[in-house]
Order: sequence, then C-alpha cells, then structure tokens
Amino acid sequence: MSVDTVISATAPLTGPLTLIHAADTAPGWWRSAVIYQVYPRSFRDLNGDGIGDIAGITEELPHLADLDVDAVWLSPFYRSPQRDAGYDVSDYCDVDPIFGTLQDFDVMMAEAHRLGLRVIVDLVPNHCSDQHAAFQAALAAPAGSPERDMFIFRDGTGPEGHEPPNNWQSHFGGPAWTRVIAPDGQPDQWYLHLFDSSQPDFNWDNTAVHAEFERVLRFWLDRGVSGFRVDVAHALIKAPGLPAWGGRADGGSSDGFPGHEAPMFGQPGVHDIYRAWRRILAEYGPDRILCAEASVDLDRLAHWVRPDEMHQAFNFPYLHAGLDVHRLRGVITDSLTVLNGVGAPSTWVLSNHDVVRHASRFGYNGQGPRDGDGIGPADPQPDTELGRRRAAAASMFMLGLPGAAYLYQGEELGLPDGIDIPEHLRQDPTFARTGGERLGRDGCRVPLPWRAAERHLGFGSGQDPWLPLPPGFTELARDAQAASPSSHLSLYRNMLALRRELGLGSGSLAWAEDWCSGSSLAYLNGATLVVMNLNHEPLELPLGRLLLRSAEPGSGRFLASGETAWLRIDGGGAE
Ligand code: NOJ
Ligand code: CA
Repeated sequence: MSVDTVISATAPLTGPLTLIHAADTAPGWWRSAVIYQVYPRSFRDLNGDGIGDIAGITEELPHLADLDVDAVWLSPFYRSPQRDAGYDVSDYCDVDPIFGTLQDFDVMMAEAHRLGLRVIVDLVPNHCSDQHAAFQAALAAPAGSPERDMFIFRDGTGPEGHEPPNNWQSHFGGPAWTRVIAPDGQPDQWYLHLFDSSQPDFNWDNTAVHAEFERVLRFWLDRGVSGFRVDVAHALIKAPGLPAWGGRADGGSSDGFPGHEAPMFGQPGVHDIYRAWRRILAEYGPDRILCAEASVDLDRLAHWVRPDEMHQAFNFPYLHAGLDVHRLRGVITDSLTVLNGVGAPSTWVLSNHDVVRHASRFGYNGQGPRDGDGIGPADPQPDTELGRRRAAAASMFMLGLPGAAYLYQGEELGLPDGIDIPEHLRQDPTFARTGGERLGRDGCRVPLPWRAAERHLGFGSGQDPWLPLPPGFTELARDAQAASPSSHLSLYRNMLALRRELGLGSGSLAWAEDWCSGSSLAYLNGATLVVMNLNHEPLELPLGRLLLRSAEPGSGRFLASGETAWLRIDGGGAE
C-alpha cells in the first residue's frame, strides 16, 4: 500500500555514499523495462483442455497492462512433443496445437500492441526436438552426410563403439550422448544432447544451421515481436574436439573446475553468431532486442552485451545471491560496474520457470532447496508467511534498482511453489532422468489462480489443470488480491507505478553506507532511498517521505526484519 508519511526519525540521511552507477541517458526501451514472463501452459486455459493457451493469454493481457509492465516474454509455444515443456521444438515457425494457431498468435500480438505491451518470444537455438524434420532426416542418412552434420554425431569409443564419444553429462541427469540405430538395425553413431535425449544439439559449426535460424528470426520479427530471449545462449558452440570434462554437468564451477573452462559453454565462437543476429534485428529498427539466458560469470557476460552483440543478459548471479546481504551488494556493484564498461544496462531477476519461486525459497532460515530441484512433501517445508513477506521485501529491493527487471508470472501474487504434486503428474524430464531423486521444476510451473470463486480458480473452466493448484492458492487469486489495498498484488502495482513515475529504471545507484550493515542494505537511486532490513532487530529509517513499504501495517519510523522501504529524501516524490 502506498503511504505518504514524513518519517520523523532523528537522523537525516548523512554519511558516505559510494557511487556505483550514474543515471542512464542512452535511448532504448529495454534499458529500464519491466518484462513479465508468461509461461503459456500455466497462464490461462481458455478452451478448457487443462493447459494454458494463446487465446487465454490474449484474454488476460489487460491485467498485465494494468500492472504497468512494458513487455511480456512468452516461453515456447512452438510445435513440440512437449518432452521439455516446449523447449524441444519440432517446428520453429508454427504454434503447437495445444496452444492454438498462428492466427491466435497474431490476434494476441494485435491485442498486446493495442494495450501498449511489447512481446518477446523464446528462441531455442542450441537444440531442437528429435521429432524435428532435420533430425529425422539425420537419422535416416548415413554417417558423414550433410543431414547428420546439422547435429553433433560422433562414433562411439571402446569395443564396437559401445561407449559414448566423451564423458559429458546431460543437464537433466545421465549421459549427454545417445546411440542411434541405423536403418539396417545395427547400432550406429551417437548424438550429443546437453539436455534430454529428445533434444539433440545443433552443430553451430555448420553454416546451414546459421541460415535456418536467421530464417526463424525473420519469421517472428515479421510477425511483430520485439525480440528474443535466447535459450542456453552460452551453449551453441562447443570446444573443438569435444574434450573430456570433469566439472559439473552444467558447466558451472566446482572444486578445481572453473566454469569458464567448461568446453560446452561460453566458447568465443558465440560472439559472431550474436553479431549476425543483431544485424538482422537492426534491419527492423532500433527497438528489437536479444536477451541471453546464459549461466556465465559477470565478466564474461559483459562481453556478450557489447554494443554490436546482445542487448541484455539475465543476471543469474543476482538471482543466486538470494538474501545474502554481502553477496547482493557484491553482485549489484560488480554487475553495474562491468556492464557500464560496455555501455549495457543490467537486468535483475528473482524467479523464472526453472527455479523454486522466491516466495518459497525465502521461506527457509537455513539451507533451502537447490534452485532447480523443487520441493516435495517429504522435504523440509518453507514457512509460507515468512517467505511471502521476504519475497515482498526482495522484490521491492530489486524493483528500485536501475536497469531492466524480469518478473515471472504469479510472483505479483506472491505465489509459492506447488509441493503436493502427485508423481504421475510430474513432467519435468529431470524427475524421470534422475529416477525421482531430483523433483525438477514442476513446482514453480503450477497454473495461475485468477478468480477465487470459479472452477479451477479461473485458470480454466473445463478439464483438470495439467498440474493441481494448491488449496492455498484460493486466497491468492488475482481477483481476491485486486480487492485488497494491502495485498501482494497491490504492492506490485504500487511499486511498478512508482518505479515508472520516479524513473528508477534509468536512475543511478549509490550505496548509503550508514544504512548498510551485515544484515541491511540501502542505496540511493536519484533522490529515492531503498532500504532493506534483514536483521532480527528493527532498523530506524532516516528522515524522509515514506513512499512505500513492503509490509503493512508498518511500524512507523522503524523497518521490521524482512522489510524494505522506499523513501524520498529530498521531500519530493509521488503524492
Ligand atoms: C533453459 C530453459 O529455461 C529450460 O526450461 C530448458 O529446460 C533448458 N533451457 C533447455 O532448453
Ligand atoms: Ca487450453
């Protein structure tokens, strides 16, 4: 709830300020945008088959415009066998029938533009589905053929090639290689799949692959999209010779294996690909963007968003910093510093379809779940109230930062993860590939509650949703929250409206040292002070006009534990 109180604290904001980032005057809508991720299968099921669809997105877009976001990013809705929830694409230039038709897409685009929303779509260039025509042709063709050269086929090792070509592991568990059977029934070559065996990796050393994706980019640009979120953008090029690797399967750092040395990730050859794509986007004007989904360290990430490459990259180090004050400060300082060095804005993100929602992650005092592994009924359970309260504080802290912010559908409702998901309904390949040891990401993909009094809470009026909505979602339904000025949704509305009004996205950042401690962080963005208190003790705010606080009712001039506030320290600000 927006408050408009002058804090009668004893101390004005004094003390040292450490300037990290000056206000951003460069043109470009994306530099300060709030981009809302729609996960189509869980957004809104208009035709009642239990799965969200594009017509459902069109139907509810006014709610996103009302929230005052700048753009939506749609996770994949392309033709796909749905072995990895659409990240296994069998036709990049068509809509999967479970989501609708190309015509539905065009209607959705028109409605988005009517509402002043831009639309970004997902590009999945590292791999396709094994049902893609190109992979089927490769299977039918002999070793060494141009068809096989679209993918990464290799002979096996060991006696009769029974062993995989190298020791790489799939991100979802198990080996990253699968052996195929030749048309004559004999065991044949192996193909590489960094993800599920149904997701063969493309061979980006082959110019035919480049040509195909340039066609795909143009197809969607011609349909009016404002850009692309590029899936596993760091994986496209593999080190020559595909050398053995002893580090973590996902290429991340582990003892003795720095992530930047992983042979399947972050290879220098990726830059030329992004430069070529940027040139294509530029043909369509200055407003189309590329955003990298890439788990690489900040120094390397900065190279990917140089002026002739991508526009943005997800800031996963920020997401992984959680509520660790020391790490947060380090990541924010480093992000702004290295990205300023190449003239790129930072992005900020707390949740997406691959990690436990932050309202659940922050509900633990000790060790919570590993980000992508989910929470099951047998696991230690998060404290729901604590999680939601801290999520509000963390979101308010994030949305005050200069740069672009990505929101994940449902975070504006404070949704937690779904936990009681029957095993037979779990669909994340991680669950099957690890024999259930890792639950995977279904918990953060549970459908949205729209209207508390309706069947399936308004997600769809027909068949059961593809994953059950937890009972606790009733009181979190959008209509219930819209009616309450102190709800999580109302807080998001107020934050987004104020963020725009105060120009925080294109603002500056200076650490307000006297309000930073081992358990609190404060920065000035222009004349707006953002303070987050994670200490057990209340923190006294400095003198100023209180614009917004993350927990209501607040306790006067004190910031409670797990609370964030925005203050105007020049006496101005929103009235
Ligand atoms: C990252 C996507 O966000 C994730 O959902 C997917 O499983 C992998 N890339 C593979 O495409
Ligand atoms: Ca549907």
